Amino acid sequence: MHTDDTSGAATLRAPRAEDGSAIWRLVRDGGSLDLNSPYLYLLICTDFAATSIVAADADDAPVGFVAAYRPPADPKAAFVWQVGVASAARGQGLAKRLIKGMLARDANRDATELTATVTPSNQASMALFHGVARDLGAQVTERERFAASLFPEGHEAERELRIGPLPERADPEVP
Ligand SMILES: CC(C)(COP(=O)(O)OP(=O)(O)OC[C@H]1O[C@@H](n2cnc3c(N)ncnc32)[C@H](O)[C@@H]1OP(=O)(O)O)[C@@H](O)C(=O)NCCC(=O)NCCS
Repeated sequence: MHTDDTSGAATLRAPRAEDGSAIWRLVRDGGSLDLNSPYLYLLICTDFAATSIVAADADDAPVGFVAAYRPPADPKAAFVWQVGVASAARGQGLAKRLIKGMLARDANRDATELTATVTPSNQASMALFHGVARDLGAQVTERERFAASLFPEGHEAERELRIGPLPERADPEVP
């Protein structure tokens, strides 16, 4: 836990199947993320549970999540697939806490880089990843990953952010 963290009301824990619908609703209601199928969120909460993380409120309901995995083609990286925080819980450091908590999980502790893709117009997302890099004392490199033309209809290009080298992580809040 970091001392600049004011999101302490939420508890970080591993995702489970029962969170899938709530995470789907959080993404649906959250604005800028691509909404995937409910089934995909069930897969994230089960097959990708060891590398992902959830923030839960006092009723154990998800108020934030990071869907992440170790790409088979880039195993030294922990790839952030989606990160979302419920509107009411934003601006308190919760997304940064989730990402740091995710990186410290047992299944991610040997990752030397964090990768993600962002659309350049998503200023919150850009600020989030640059803020994480600054906190971790890591560099950010950027390149185009998926050109707009690769998407079936109106979608900005997705740029890859590669953050590293990552520092050693302390004992995980969520094993
Ligand atoms: C992006 C998102 C996850 C940020 O969640 P959050 O809990 O409010 O973020 P934090 O409080 O941890 O803030 C992290 C950093 O981003 C900055 N930030 C957060 N929201 C911002 C915004 N709307 N505009 C500019 N900067 C913003 C914060 O100031 C902080 O910067 P710092 O490290 O310099 O202090 C949240 O706004 C969200 O769910 N948005 C919709 C989904 C999305 O766009 N996800 C990212 C794409 S994968």
